[in-house]
Amino acid sequence: MASLPFSILIFGGTGAIGKHITAAILSAKATPGHNISIFTSAATASDPGKEVLLSSWKSQGLRVVTGDIHNAQDVSRAYEDVDVVVSCLGRNTLTAQTELIRLAEESARVKWFFPSEYGTDIEYDASSKDEKPHQNKLRVREFIRNNIRRVQCTYLVTGPYIDMYLALLPGVEAIGGYDVHSKKAVVVNSGNDAVGFTSMPDVGKLLVAALRHPDEAMGQVLKVQSFVATPVEIVREFEKQTGAEWTTDSTPMQTLLELEKKLWDENKPLATAATLRRIWAEGRTLYEKTDNEKLGLGPDDLETLSEVVGRAVI
Ligand SMILES: NC(=O)c1ccc[n+]([C@@H]2O[C@H](COP(=O)([O-])OP(=O)(O)OC[C@H]3O[C@@H](n4cnc5c(N)ncnc54)[C@H](OP(=O)(O)O)[C@@H]3O)[C@@H](O)[C@H]2O)c1
Repeated sequence: MASLPFSILIFGGTGAIGKHITAAILSAKATPGHNISIFTSAATASDPGKEVLLSSWKSQGLRVVTGDIHNAQDVSRAYEDVDVVVSCLGRNTLTAQTELIRLAEESARVKWFFPSEYGTDIEYDASSKDEKPHQNKLRVREFIRNNIRRVQCTYLVTGPYIDMYLALLPGVEAIGGYDVHSKKAVVVNSGNDAVGFTSMPDVGKLLVAALRHPDEAMGQVLKVQSFVATPVEIVREFEKQTGAEWTTDSTPMQTLLELEKKLWDENKPLATAATLRRIWAEGRTLYEKTDNEKLGLGPDDLETLSEVVGRAVI
């Protein structure tokens, strides 16, 4: 497959999803004369825990630019030879992106920007605007609509990462999840309501597919996913792969709503996870048709439930 005809700068490239996106972009390679860089803090660049990853990426041609995302000079300097910016910043720095996008608009060269989304559809229906976890991403989209004219922005909407969905989070087990060790699952309601998932490696693959299809992707909200499955189908897959029967508890939607409210009232960080699990259980990840095909990807190009569960049972 042809290499990418852009110089690309990634923010948050060593983060949870940034790692997959950076790895996929590096594997796709830039055409000669173009660079692939990450913009990272000095703390991350010198973090012993990230040294192995960064040196392996550097050997694949990655440039590491250190700076502060809140320092306009650092950012503008990093934009000097960049065509495309991919932001993978985490939830706590999402609003810093308005300035990053403004600086991109002001720059001479940046023409395409991917704000950090890679998750639940924040404009799925009329109720989406009121969901607390969506507020910062909605603000970024609004800023772009009102202020950005030259730079094209693309939002990659992937739904939940199946890799993370499989976890049973201690203390909030009732929101749903799977525990391989105790062979226990918790599903919301009957567990028969379908959810659209993307695996974390596929987020990287789909981002690269968007870069390969600028006519289809630039300026768009792309709704993509690896596969659709119900929570009960996931239990069945775990049972098949572990060769054992699992215990499945069910959380009624009303109980999830009450837990969600309690977590927000107590200002607990896991409130976000509870709200997102409720949105997913309500079916707000489902589409008549995704944009996968537009990006040249069919079902055989993306991971399956069996592959992802296979990784989880090892
Ligand atoms: N679909 C899903 O199930 C799902 C799950 C989780 C996240 N997401 C989405 O994925 C996106 C990325 O989230 P993530 O969990 O991958 O992010 P993360 O790992 O928490 O953070 C990503 C990067 O952001 C930078 N960063 C974080 N805090 C910073 C700060 N205070 N100042 C400067 N830089 C900071 C760091 O980059 P450096 O280390 O390079 O400095 C960090 O590695 C978000 O939009 C999030 O909503 C989706």
